[in-house]
Parts: sequence; structure tokens; C-alpha cells
Amino acid sequence: MSSTEATHQNRRGFFVRITQALGALIAGGLGVPAIVYLFTPPKTRASGAWVDAADLTQLKLRTPEEVTFRRVRMDGWKIITEKSTAWVVKLNEGEVVAYTPQCTHLGCAYHWEETKGEFLCPCHTSNFSLDGKVLNGPAPRPLDRYQVKVQGTRIMIGPQQPPQKGA
Ligand code: FES
Repeated sequence: MSSTEATHQNRRGFFVRITQALGALIAGGLGVPAIVYLFTPPKTRASGAWVDAADLTQLKLRTPEEVTFRRVRMDGWKIITEKSTAWVVKLNEGEVVAYTPQCTHLGCAYHWEETKGEFLCPCHTSNFSLDGKVLNGPAPRPLDRYQVKVQGTRIMIGPQQPPQKGA
């Protein structure tokens, strides 16, 4: 092998190694984030946060109030602000409940019928007692509830509780 051929082979080998190193660098740069993306669960905190929803001192005993609140949640890289409502009831001095605003039959919005003292769904006329129990169907189960805690005079609403069974 002449010295010119040896120089060409060294140069070729050098360029092959540089090309392989660049290929590995690019594959690592693209591959590592792709692997992390594929194998880590998305950061979803659907409804985990507690929000300040109402003033306890403004609630009348056994008189439901519909309250509106905003909840911020992260869905992957998106931050979403959701507007929600709840029917909040001070059942007695030590017990506050918050119902989700959808009927447990097919999800219509129900309202409080002051004259009858019950929640009424206009879609298929299910009605519910003050403590959320089904008085007349077709609703298959009591009103769904949010978790609730009282901090001082503030009513904090948390995630939705698992649905209760039965009417
Ligand atoms: S959706 Fe309320 S009774 Fe059907």
C-alpha cells in the first residue's frame, strides 16, 4: 500500500467515525426524549386540587346554594382552567355537602324546588331529597358528591367522590 492510499484510508476512516458519532448524537438527541415520552405517564391531575368555593357564614341551614368555582388542572403540558358548579348544602351545623350539578340518570342539570323542598331534574322528572337520595326515578343512584372540607369559614371543594350505589 502506497503512502497516498494509506492517507486516503485514514481520511476515509476518520470521516466514517465522525459520521457514526454524529448519527449516534442525533439518535440520542431524538431517541431519549421519545423514550421518556413513551414510557412515562402523562402528568394529569384531573380534579385533584381543592378550591375555595363558598363562605360558610352565608349558607342558610338546609337551604341549597348553587356555587360556581374555577379549578386549574394540568393535562400533560397544558394548564386548563375549568369553570364548575356545585349545589352546596349545610345539612346541620357540623355537616356540609356539595353535589355535582348533573343528574345521575343522564346528566341533565337539576335545580332546587324551594316549594317542594327537593331537587328536581326537568329531563325525566327524577327528584332527590336534600341529602341527595332518589325520591323518584328513573335516576339509578343518589346525587354524586364532591369531597368537602371546611377551613375556618371557607368551604373547600375537592375531587368528586366515587358514585354511591343504589337509590
Ligand atoms: S337526566 Fe335527570 S331524570 Fe333523566
